[in-house]
Amino acid sequence: MTSLRPVIRGTGHYLPARVVPNSEFTKSLDTSDEWIISRSGIERRHFAAEGEYTSDLAIHAGRAALANAGLDADAIDAVIVATSTPDYTFPAVATQVQDGLGMTRGFAFDIQAVCAGFVFALANASGLIMAGQARRVLVIGAETFSRIMDWTDRGSCVLFGDGAGAVVLEAQPGVGDTTDRGVLACDLHSDGRYRDLLYVDGGVSRTGAAGQLRMQGREVFRHAVEKLSATALAVLEKAGLQAADLDWIVPHQANLRIIKGTAQKLGLPMEKIIVTVQDHGNTSAASIPLALSVANAQGRFKPGDLILTEAIGGGLSWGAVVLRW
Ligand code: UT7
Repeated sequence: MTSLRPVIRGTGHYLPARVVPNSEFTKSLDTSDEWIISRSGIERRHFAAEGEYTSDLAIHAGRAALANAGLDADAIDAVIVATSTPDYTFPAVATQVQDGLGMTRGFAFDIQAVCAGFVFALANASGLIMAGQARRVLVIGAETFSRIMDWTDRGSCVLFGDGAGAVVLEAQPGVGDTTDRGVLACDLHSDGRYRDLLYVDGGVSRTGAAGQLRMQGREVFRHAVEKLSATALAVLEKAGLQAADLDWIVPHQANLRIIKGTAQKLGLPMEKIIVTVQDHGNTSAASIPLALSVANAQGRFKPGDLILTEAIGGGLSWGAVVLRW
């Protein structure tokens, strides 16, 4: 049986020029390079410049992904941007990207599932492709979390960074089994009972202001290791695969201890895990496409490699996608 598979044809990313080492936080907070590295694995992060917005980061990353795919913007049918830090309340960042790339056709919208945003966007883009609604979708994760930090809260402000990553997803024929290239299965979850564990304390309807990030880190950590390994196993089961079949995991880059804990639960060695958290911090919805693009640029993926991505964030929302490169 032939079927349509959403295959990653190209990747790209963009990081703002300003690199902020851990040492910068020690000037204003009771913290240390040693604490941040030992508790999170983070050594540095990038912060957007004044006048540099989420849409700018997304446009750079989108352009890089198109170049990597060898495509012009007019070959794209849809743009999806996963973000919780849009330039404006509306319109969607994706429409700004569409215009920035010179696209005058197709459709564009944002997805907001916080740190799980890229996994949700990838699953939605896959659905559009398999339903015949779009042949090529530009899927972007872009964030400027530096704009919603409380700089007096050492438990959160040292963890996040700004950046963007993008993939071009393209419909390609498959035979309908796990040897196909492309997205093989998706697994998505949310549980709003846990929304107070990680949220932003402002918004249009409630305060009329953007607000600042609030996180109960220890509680989120506890949910993360348990839920990420569960969704990873669930997506593998949906696809008819096992953890031992995986060549790579490209996890959400929030905390090296969460990444290691999840790998351990799945019985996978760290050589199979793409880790960029030391250089980027937690860039929320941008972290997975950023890591995918960095690893691809390093030539780490071979055609046919089996890759799993997984993420959890505010909501709580979490999920995983398994795909063949
Ligand atoms: O991407 C969305 C999902 N988010 C996450 O996945 C984040 C999940 N959580 C985490 O990554 C970790 O919980 C943190 C990195 C946020 C914190 O690590 P932890 O090992 O859970 O530390 P903790 O919150 O239990 O805090 C331990 C101690 C506390 O002091 P006391 O109460 O033991 O005296 C904190 O006040 O560390 C203190 N602390 C700090 N010390 C130095 C908290 N932040 C800092 C800091 N520098 N920046």
